[in-house]
Amino acid sequence: MEKGKMKGALKRFGVMPYQPFSEADIKLISDFMYEYKIEEPSWFKEHWEQGHGKGNYKQQGKVLHSKPDSPLKSLKETGLEIARNTQKVLGKNLMGKMQNEDPVAALQFCNENAYPLTDSMATVHQAKIKRVSDKARNPLNQANQEEMEHIGYFKKKVEAQENYDPIIIENGDEAHFYYPIVTNDMCLKCHGKPGQDISPK
Ligand code: HEC
Repeated sequence: MEKGKMKGALKRFGVMPYQPFSEADIKLISDFMYEYKIEEPSWFKEHWEQGHGKGNYKQQGKVLHSKPDSPLKSLKETGLEIARNTQKVLGKNLMGKMQNEDPVAALQFCNENAYPLTDSMATVHQAKIKRVSDKARNPLNQANQEEMEHIGYFKKKVEAQENYDPIIIENGDEAHFYYPIVTNDMCLKCHGKPGQDISPK
């Protein structure tokens, strides 16, 4: 209070609440305020001229040419975000079950909870999400002909240890996005060969 320069404002509004900025950021902010014209609200000119300030109200300083609003996220970014978030949710729950319980308990999770979880991710992201396979456990998840081609493409890439981008197919105002979930040893406990990878239980 005692250090304040704008006594009137302090009296009316009190001290501005503490802002948790680092010393370096505060310096940048004050440099900016000093060097540049700050955007002013439409009522400011009148407010100033009504006797709150002396002299010319016009600000000195550089004008910040703000960049145009950043373009919408690209389809690739959006698709990857949806795919990764969904995989994270499914993976986290699955891993927890596999570690703390056993594949049989986890199996129940995959069978009963994977769909509601996927659906809730679909609601969050306003997208349709599904998992398909060329070797599906559940025949309802069997990849169709087009999906089989995409799986074939990703398989080759994974085998050759090459980088791959998602496949994005735009169709009017819809876009289809394909990205692989790569299998590992843990997956084979339920998706592998019966008797060999999958315990009889
Ligand atoms: C605990 C057993 C279990 C583990 C571990 C598991 N899954 Fe599954 N997964 C299932 C079951 C059961 C289904 C079928 C769910 C249904 O439709 O009833 C399934 C379905 C799928 C599907 C849909 C196609 C299909 O086969 O029906 C994909 C894709 C999939 N899993 C990928 C994976 C991947 C990748 C991993 C490893 C990261 C993995 N799963 C680990 C049990 C498991």
